[in-house]
Amino acid sequence: FCMLYSDFCLFAVFAFSTCGGYSGQLRVSVDCMEKASSNLSIPIDFGYPFRLDQVSFEAPACEATKRERVFLIGDFSSSAEFFVTISVFAFLYSLMASIVYIFFLNKYRQISRGPLIDFVVTVVFSFVWLVSSSAWAKALSDVKTATDPDEVQLLIPACKVQTNKCGSVHGARWSGLNTSVVRLGDRCNYT
Ligand SMILES: *[C@@H]1O[C@H](CO)[C@@H](O)[C@H](O)[C@H]1NC(C)=O
Ligand SMILES: *[C@@H]1O[C@H](CO)[C@@H](O)[C@H](O)[C@H]1NC(C)=O
Repeated sequence: FCMLYSDFCLFAVFAFSTCGGYSGQLRVSVDCMEKASSNLSIPIDFGYPFRLDQVSFEAPACEATKRERVFLIGDFSSSAEFFVTISVFAFLYSLMASIVYIFFLNKYRQISRGPLIDFVVTVVFSFVWLVSSSAWAKALSDVKTATDPDEVQLLIPACKVQTNKCGSVHGARWSGLNTSVVRLGDRCNYT
């Protein structure tokens, strides 16, 4: 049925598999002056729905074996959940519309309002979809900033002390999430 409602269907599948299923990891290092208390690879996991203010990790305080819990900043769950919810509805709608087309084509033609209802629903969906995609595109760029290892280092108290050295081991992979936003661009180009 993706052939009939290809836009909605592809959007739904993309949004769900990229945004809804996303999980990523970044790693930072805290190299204390006292080498014994360093941790050169601290993993930080996060993912959908991007409630980053609930994501925390333990970083060395660079004083003996003391450790401190550090939280990331920001809650992007409303945009992410809106985007995924719309994609689920788009998926269900394209499924339903395809069933109507395939099995009830004659009835659909007889009901004079059928095509009109279809048109109105499509227009409304396209609009809501555009809104949710733009909101998500904005949220995604904020999520990328908030999970950038260089930004995360600034949150670790021990890194504010000049004699300790902090660095990024690796950032999160974003390739899947880029596609969820790229499709918005595709859509705008030919609508
Ligand atoms: C570094 O920190 C992580 C997470 O807090 C911990 O699992 C790991 O054991 C630590 N590594 C060292 C060498 O302390
Ligand atoms: C994803 O987007 C970022 C910029 O937001 C870019 O640096 C990166 O190369 C992109 N990755 C892919 C796989 O397109």
